Amino acid sequence: GDVAVLVPAAGLGIRLGPGGPKALRLLRGEPLLVHAVRRVAIAPCVGRIVVAAPADAVDFVASLLAPIADVTVVAGGATRQASVSAALAAVPAEFDIVLVHDAARALTPPELVEAVASAVRGGHGAVIPVLPVVDTIKQVDNSGIVLTTVDRSALRAVQTPQGFRRDVLVKAHEAAVDDHTDDAGMAEKLGVEVHTVPGSEAALKITRPFDLAVAELLL
Ligand code: CTP
Ligand code: MG
Repeated sequence: GDVAVLVPAAGLGIRLGPGGPKALRLLRGEPLLVHAVRRVAIAPCVGRIVVAAPADAVDFVASLLAPIADVTVVAGGATRQASVSAALAAVPAEFDIVLVHDAARALTPPELVEAVASAVRGGHGAVIPVLPVVDTIKQVDNSGIVLTTVDRSALRAVQTPQGFRRDVLVKAHEAAVDDHTDDAGMAEKLGVEVHTVPGSEAALKITRPFDLAVAELLL
């Protein structure tokens, strides 16, 4: 495959509660990161995977993933953006397409990885998977009083993997100052057109204990 996939996995998992870094928390007996990398590695387009691990767990993570795929492991940073930058720096020069995929979206199907990579290969500099928003959305003031009901039809919930032409992602990271929670947001600021493809409900982000319970049921 001609596609490199960066997997930021160095977060603390504060919202999931006590139990160590989220990427190493178990889902049916295996770390979330193992589930995530296994699915990414199945996608035929993928030629290289670079994981950003907690700095004190780089060797452990490398040994964990060695049986699953040929994975490069680097130390992550204090923010997601720093972790993605560290992983990006470890991508060999021959990869022109780079995807960024949260370890926390552990059950993302390989088909979604393929679809995002295909859209980049088809000429889009930045590609994100999205789902329609199902809840009614309201804007509120500081005391929780409703200001307005937002038009939901124009809103999308954004997932990963997000795909980029390598030069776009490199420029976006060079230009970015504050901590962005997604890479497409940095590309937007550069004026890059961001293309959307249909996301997958299975690509849910495991953030809170409820999400972990849902993922257990899905497996
Ligand atoms: N991440 C990272 N480095 C950081 C922070 C986050 O690599 N310094 C990764 C996480 O490991 C995760 C992804 O970015 O795979 C999305 O972040 P999030 O879901 O917020 O995970 P955490 O930061 O671990 O969780 P929390 O915010 O609840 O602490
Ligand atoms: Mg976080």
